[in-house]
Amino acid sequence: MAMDGDTRPNDLSAFWMPFTANRQFKKNPRMFVSADRMHYRTDDGRDVLDGTAGLWCCNAGHNRPKIIEAIQSQAAELDYAPAFQMGHPKAFELATKLVDMAPEPFSHAFFTNSGSESVETALKIALAYHRVRGEGTRTRLIGRERGYHGVNFGGISVGGIVNNRKFFGSLLTGVDHLPHTHLPEKNAFTKGQPEHGADLADELERIVALHGPETIAAVIVEPMAGSTGVLIPPKGYLKRLRELCTKHGILLIFDEVITGFGRLGSSFAAAHFDVMPDLITCAKGLTNGVIPMGAVLATSQIHDAFMQGPEEAIELFHGYTYSGNPIAAAAGVATLETYREEGLFERAAELAPYWEEAVHSLKGLPHVIDIRNMGLIAGIELEPIAGQPTKRAFSAFLKAYEKGVLIRTTGDIIAMSPPLIIEKEHIDTLVGTLADVIRELD
Ligand SMILES: Cc1ncc(COP(=O)(O)O)c(C=O)c1O
Repeated sequence: MAMDGDTRPNDLSAFWMPFTANRQFKKNPRMFVSADRMHYRTDDGRDVLDGTAGLWCCNAGHNRPKIIEAIQSQAAELDYAPAFQMGHPKAFELATKLVDMAPEPFSHAFFTNSGSESVETALKIALAYHRVRGEGTRTRLIGRERGYHGVNFGGISVGGIVNNRKFFGSLLTGVDHLPHTHLPEKNAFTKGQPEHGADLADELERIVALHGPETIAAVIVEPMAGSTGVLIPPKGYLKRLRELCTKHGILLIFDEVITGFGRLGSSFAAAHFDVMPDLITCAKGLTNGVIPMGAVLATSQIHDAFMQGPEEAIELFHGYTYSGNPIAAAAGVATLETYREEGLFERAAELAPYWEEAVHSLKGLPHVIDIRNMGLIAGIELEPIAGQPTKRAFSAFLKAYEKGVLIRTTGDIIAMSPPLIIEKEHIDTLVGTLADVIRELD
């Protein structure tokens, strides 16, 4: 047992940590023990400025009283209700609030417990949608290189991050991939959306010609690819993808697990880019990261296609024990209210130009080969150390943590996505510290 007053666990071996260098971590643990708004507190009593909203999820900042209170009172009132063939008011309230916040055509929400589950759910809805409409030949799924759609089998099959795929067998069959949109030779150091690359969407024509449109169920992309290291969609790219999907009767799924809830300065990327997919996946910011929860948003066209046959028959054979869990739903309602009451999406939009200038001030520092930004997101790409990919960025992550700033790295790319309550002084601290870190890198 830990000694009185010591919050540090004395044995770290049992917890096999996710997406973590376990041996490195357990030699030099980095522990957060509390949080408040923009800061974490470490077990050695230091404040760390949160430059990543946890893991792209605490959009309203940390330990917000309204969300805490909602969870506490919900837990005391109704802890759990069966998710199948039974309901409880909070899940319906959240679904209504969520579709009200989403762009116009989205009228229904299916609840999950994570981004990965939202992706699986959306892929399954897409397949079943075609099937219930008598187009059961549409079974292929198209993802994109460098895409991240969580870690379950559907998600890693349509995903395009090599390490997330190659260890896990042959994955789903009938999957193809669009090319990624990263064109550094043409677009490096672009502020906002790059000029070049819309034509990469036309690769869908090639894939359609190869397989036949009647075999393709859905295309899934992140409107802004986050986890691969912040790839902003080229101007016109998403619109073109939408046109081609419509032309060929293919559903378009936007994976908005990161871009949902204000990250780009709008409720969802679909609204931001004014390109409407058929399904939207979300999670993370839905509950401010506080309780695991995700959702798939569907248009009436998709939803209503299932509402046929005898009324007492189940329409979609899919769901989770915790779909719409009362405590998660209460957290979601309080979170969406917080976003609205505090105008956090508008705030992100207002701060975006300041953020853009700040992060692009890092241009010219050693090893910096590209900077990309949009809304309150930035990717800073470092030249990898020859023969040791990821080492330089990981070292930046460790140094930043020592200096009191939390960033995230993927490959040799530094990603930042602070809570939307960030102040300009925090942006200065974040970027100033990062500049010092980068200057110290080998
Ligand atoms: C676009 C996207 N989809 C899916 C996921 C998976 O979410 P989760 O980790 O909640 O399963 C993530 C997580 O970062 C994501 O960024």
